[in-house]
Amino acid sequence: MPDSATPLRKDAHLDLCAADDVQPASNSTLLECVHLVHCAMPELSLADVDLSTPWWGKTLKAPLLVTGMTGGSDRARSVNRDLALVAERRGLAFGVGSQRAMAEHPELARTFAVRDIAPTILLLGNIGLRQGITLGVDGVRRLMDAIGADGMALHLNAGQELTQPEGDRDFRGGYSLVQALSAALGERFLVKETGCGLSPDVARRLADCGVRTLDVSGLGGTSWVRVEQLRLKDGPAHEVGELFSGWGIPTAAAVATVRRVVGPHIRLIASGGLRNGLEAAKALALGADIAGMALPLFRAQQAGGVAAAELAVDAVVRALAQALLLTGSRNVAELRTQPKVVAGPLKDWMGSL
Ligand SMILES: Cc1cc2nc3c(=O)[nH]c(=O)nc-3n(C[C@H](O)[C@H](O)[C@H](O)COP(=O)(O)O)c2cc1C
Repeated sequence: MPDSATPLRKDAHLDLCAADDVQPASNSTLLECVHLVHCAMPELSLADVDLSTPWWGKTLKAPLLVTGMTGGSDRARSVNRDLALVAERRGLAFGVGSQRAMAEHPELARTFAVRDIAPTILLLGNIGLRQGITLGVDGVRRLMDAIGADGMALHLNAGQELTQPEGDRDFRGGYSLVQALSAALGERFLVKETGCGLSPDVARRLADCGVRTLDVSGLGGTSWVRVEQLRLKDGPAHEVGELFSGWGIPTAAAVATVRRVVGPHIRLIASGGLRNGLEAAKALALGADIAGMALPLFRAQQAGGVAAAELAVDAVVRALAQALLLTGSRNVAELRTQPKVVAGPLKDWMGSL
């Protein structure tokens, strides 16, 4: 059944994410508990630092992904196109937001189309778990092919759905869908959370279903429970939304503990609250292969279009390269082997999970 509310809801989400307090200050990624150790004698030139990263037969110039955000309206179209252009120019990966609107209204496909201006980027399609179950494997593959994507992201957002009055309440059947999509799409398939994090147990089960790429999207950045709560008037649902605005696994804890259980062969994306290149470096040092960002790049695009988003990305890449040099690391693989100090509550999470 087509849902004409989907594009409207998407624009309301963009309004809230552009200006409101969608990152509760009391939430944290716990990346502040990670201290990379300074190397006073790096014996490297900045030009020696190599950020290039292979992914599905392509090579990113830096291990960065603009994680899926939007599509479905004219405003969303310009966000997608501006950020895809930045990804093309800077050699990064880029994901569109949920293609549910396009599945329900095929004429909205143009709001997700970026291949004409970003012919070489690693491009990810996106659909939610419930819509994936409704569409089935063939329907999901059609969404991916329709935008010329290299692979498909399946997003998990139970926390958001439960806060949304019109949201889903039934989350059964997820692993069967994941298994079917893994079998059909092979390695060109990833599963992501949306700001509440993947636990090691869920990550292990997803890997057992054949998933080769996981985006932990942990707590500490955009809270989708908070976004939905901001859409609600006062009342019991608003209160419960407030209560769960801090729900989730901090990004640093998710990366470190998921890497421990899935082993070295799963591609791991760290996202959720990464706000600069130093935080990206810490996430990579904890075991991520790629760092993902959504809100800061969306806000930069809203403030100043392509030019502002490009500046934001350049600052991230610069700080990341600097962190590698200052730890004496030529590349991310070397960064992982350097000593680091893990302090405070992150140590507790890592010890308990
Ligand atoms: C405006 C906006 C829209 C989003 N829409 C989607 C979506 O459609 N599908 C999805 O998988 N994630 C979506 N996300 C979640 C992000 O991909 C990411 O997992 C989450 O925001 C945490 O990253 P951040 O703290 O850097 O924003 C959205 C995020 C933002 C800011």
